[in-house]
Amino acid sequence: MSKVTTIDHPLVQHKLSLLRDKDTGCKAFRELVYELAMLMAYEVTRDLELKEIEIETPICKTTVQTLANEKIAVIPILRAGLGMADGIMSLIPNAKVGHIGLYRNPDTLMPTGYYCKLPQDIAERETIIVDPMLATGNSGIEAIHILKENNVGSIRFVSLIAAPEGIAAMQAAHPDVDIYVAHIDEKLNEHGYIVPGLGDAGDRLFGTK
Ligand code: URA
Repeated sequence: MSKVTTIDHPLVQHKLSLLRDKDTGCKAFRELVYELAMLMAYEVTRDLELKEIEIETPICKTTVQTLANEKIAVIPILRAGLGMADGIMSLIPNAKVGHIGLYRNPDTLMPTGYYCKLPQDIAERETIIVDPMLATGNSGIEAIHILKENNVGSIRFVSLIAAPEGIAAMQAAHPDVDIYVAHIDEKLNEHGYIVPGLGDAGDRLFGTK
């Protein structure tokens, strides 16, 4: 069974509370999503493997640790995931970015793929999928499926807010993928929105409502 990590750092919880407020405008919302993703990236990457290398300081030769695999890819699920990508990249500036576009049918709540562009060497990369809301889990499940079809072995999934239903669905579909969230909310409503949640993350990020 995959691991679910709730990142309960006080700064993360404070910023998440500001984000949820319906009076938080588009600019502040975008900045908060960036900051939250950056803070979460620190914990999401905590178990990346290290290897020892020899270097020379101005004083002497020494053995130090570096990332065993520096090839990392951040994969935002379009469109709301875009808001988190730069925050993660601020800690991992050499990461490549792959985009997966999934449209959620408002009646069936099932995702339909409309875009997918991944780095050519994606199979060799540690991948971090980002999507602010893990609601039904259907989009995340499909995005992970697409990465697995592309022979990706290492996948982490990061959301700001998750519904228990979405976590259960994702763990059932992909028990090998660890999930990182800032908070697990109460439930989904009949429209597939997370309660209390923060509304439509894409609309609030891009000012489309
Ligand atoms: N997507 C959102 O943007 N918000 C939700 O509450 C659920 C899915």
